[in-house]
Amino acid sequence: MKAVAVFPKSREVRVIEDAPEPRLSSPTQVRVRTLEVGVCGTDKEIADFRYGTPPEGSDFLIVGHEALGEVVEVGSAVQGLKPGDLVVPRVRRPCPHERCPACRHGYPDFCITGGYTERGIQKAHGFCAQFFVEDVAYLHRVPAPLRHVAVLTEPLTIAEKALREVEHLKERLPWEPKPGRAVVLGSGPVGLLGAMVLLRAGYSTTVYSRSPKPNVKAEVAEALGAPYLSSQQVPVEELRKRAGPVDVVYEAAGASKAAFEVLKVLGPNGIFIFTGVPGRKEPLELEGAALLKQMVLHNQVVLGTVNAADMDFDAALEDLERFHARWPGRLERMITARHPPEEFIQVVSDKAGGIKHVITFG
Ligand code: BGC
Ligand code: ZN
Repeated sequence: MKAVAVFPKSREVRVIEDAPEPRLSSPTQVRVRTLEVGVCGTDKEIADFRYGTPPEGSDFLIVGHEALGEVVEVGSAVQGLKPGDLVVPRVRRPCPHERCPACRHGYPDFCITGGYTERGIQKAHGFCAQFFVEDVAYLHRVPAPLRHVAVLTEPLTIAEKALREVEHLKERLPWEPKPGRAVVLGSGPVGLLGAMVLLRAGYSTTVYSRSPKPNVKAEVAEALGAPYLSSQQVPVEELRKRAGPVDVVYEAAGASKAAFEVLKVLGPNGIFIFTGVPGRKEPLELEGAALLKQMVLHNQVVLGTVNAADMDFDAALEDLERFHARWPGRLERMITARHPPEEFIQVVSDKAGGIKHVITFG
């Protein structure tokens, strides 16, 4: 079958035509025909050979971790799925170590050993192939009306997990705080989907990102009801004045300098969430004392979050239905273009532009 693979040793990224077609090897497995695979910054890193690891014994890694597919075959013990159903798979699989409480409790997103695998990223083939096989435990059924936007489920789960953590953290306040003001740093898919989640939760949300207006990301943000400010046009001091004291900053840019700059706008009892994994290593000078003083005197929380759990995928699918009803056409607008697998390399090159690029298997 056809698949998109990276060969780190020979530094190649290409379509392979003869990847072995996966078959069911346990009664709880499901065989899925891939419909769409989203491409993100992580794929760019992998295609640049700066991240990602092939499965043991393989010289290549099939990429793709943001997938939507159609069930074609189910094992004899599979319940709740049948051929024709649409599904999205989770990404991370547990480590094998007895001493890892996270993985042993079904939360490999909090794995403490680093021995987890991630499909399409870390020591496990991904979904950017005509077919994949997955255990039913790692699949989520997608309502048919979400067919054209469900490829956004996985990037949305990042925001779902983050907001779930914010809700937990708010419990440290002995009263019930109302959702206040939020700033989203970055306007890629993770940023814009994060803005949707924050708006849905009741935060008045501003998107702060690099590209000057007008641009398609700003257009989407503002159509959602989130003012868009460009860091090239509005410096952080001005953002502080315009947005007021900020209760939640949701960082989705993966740029360390910008992130620490924006940390300064966080208000009393605020929560700053890092989701971006920086690619570039830029030198950073911090006013450490001022920053610590701000964080201590204002009871602030700085939180990093990665990957997502079972419940975050369920929440993401429910939210996609809500977003579809509340902002008709906006999710669709975030999908810039659909491409055949042969165009993967072109898509991961920095020139692609737009918001979310998707590989389709037709
Ligand atoms: C994926 C996560 C993954 C992370 C680190 C992100 O792009 O969405 O599922 O855990 O990369 O590999
Ligand atoms: Zn991704």
